[in-house]
Amino acid sequence: MRYDSITEAIGNTPLVRIDPAVHGLRNIDLYAKLEMLNPFGSVKDRPAWHMARPHLEGAAAGEGTVVELSSGNTAKALALLAGMHGLRFKSVTNRMRVPEIKELLLLLGAEIEELPGRSECLDPTDTDDPLTHFHQALSEPGSTYLHTDQYFNPRNVEAHAAGTGPEIVKDLDGRAPDWFVACVGTAGSSTGVARVLREHDPDVRVLGLVAHKSDFIPGIRTIDEVHQVGLFDPATYDTIESVTSGEALDGMLTLVRRCGILSGPTGGAAYQGAVRHLRDADSALDGSGRRETAVFIVCDRAESYLSYVRARRPELLGRAVRGHTLASLTEDDVRAEALSVGVEAARRRIAEGDPGPLVVDLRSPHAYAALHIEGSVNIVDELFEELVRGGLPFGKRTPVLLACPVGEKSLRYAALLTRMGHPEVRSLAGGIVAWRDAGAPLVRE
Ligand SMILES: Cc1ncc(COP(=O)(O)O)c(C=O)c1O
Repeated sequence: MRYDSITEAIGNTPLVRIDPAVHGLRNIDLYAKLEMLNPFGSVKDRPAWHMARPHLEGAAAGEGTVVELSSGNTAKALALLAGMHGLRFKSVTNRMRVPEIKELLLLLGAEIEELPGRSECLDPTDTDDPLTHFHQALSEPGSTYLHTDQYFNPRNVEAHAAGTGPEIVKDLDGRAPDWFVACVGTAGSSTGVARVLREHDPDVRVLGLVAHKSDFIPGIRTIDEVHQVGLFDPATYDTIESVTSGEALDGMLTLVRRCGILSGPTGGAAYQGAVRHLRDADSALDGSGRRETAVFIVCDRAESYLSYVRARRPELLGRAVRGHTLASLTEDDVRAEALSVGVEAARRRIAEGDPGPLVVDLRSPHAYAALHIEGSVNIVDELFEELVRGGLPFGKRTPVLLACPVGEKSLRYAALLTRMGHPEVRSLAGGIVAWRDAGAPLVRE
């Protein structure tokens, strides 16, 4: 294989059968599409190149900056592509949550701008969100940025409709699989592949996977965030299900330890979500003499997620399991143990309490700097989790009010601290958004 440019190595990734002894499905052949083997390391190499190509080929070297709202694989691929063409790359995001990826982007020469966005994903309908403002500014006439616009650019979908989908059909001897399973980030890969597979067989069943509410799986959306994505069309999917970060890690472990596939967490989520969903269909096929085929996507590799694994399963990296973690709480635990207070009650507690509660704001430093409750302290949630793992971070006599963007994360921490024996921890119901919407005062740093 000889190429004139690394971009020619994008695509034509292998489709690898998973050993039935591993997944346990008797009547369904399960295949992994190894997008992790693209040259820049992920499923995003294809859309990054397809979206950037018209900009890169038209721009003179040294003139212009490619820009994308991305904190992960799209940014990585675009940084490499921009560098090859003598251009700069700037990644705009509300928060880089995976430190290895942030460091890698810096190594690749990317400029990173972290804005105080409210969710992990651009919400174009939220006109107050700084990320939305930035996105609009990029698209205005006269902008000197070369904006690839992955959440809205149809070329994101086309890249998969032209490459990923047809490759799957070709490798299955001209047939579409009976099932297609993909995690949903921008929805580009699932939409593009589903379109092509349905052209071959309208009965293909498409399962879209998102992260469980208030959980975090890097690269994919939660069920609430996914509706904000411009390319997302619910009609693409026969079913949308959520997976927890615990399931993503279980799936990733199976792929790396049993299948020789060096998958990252979303590949794990896709594997685990696929097997969980297909069990019923598999049983229904018993005795029918029919076999079905399912394909899931392995989006990227494991190495960039060691800190993600360390935070959730320290024992896997040879570290002692320390104390209490959010991952150890079930939804039932949260419901049973967490206490929350609404905005009015919280304001009364702050005004009248003796002592008033210590208000801990778990949002990013940028969001905190933009607007916060007066007197609150800012401990970003990853750091807070680290602190809690070492034991109760506050004396038991200090009442605590936890605040996050919409009151979901803070509720989980309230459950955790209550379980650890703190007698008076509350979560601010609806978070800073509810506080603001109620017209309660917020201050700037
Ligand atoms: C690791 C990872 N998995 C899955 C996805 C989902 O892909 P898509 O954006 O095509 O929905 C992404 C997208 O960024 C990703 O980075």
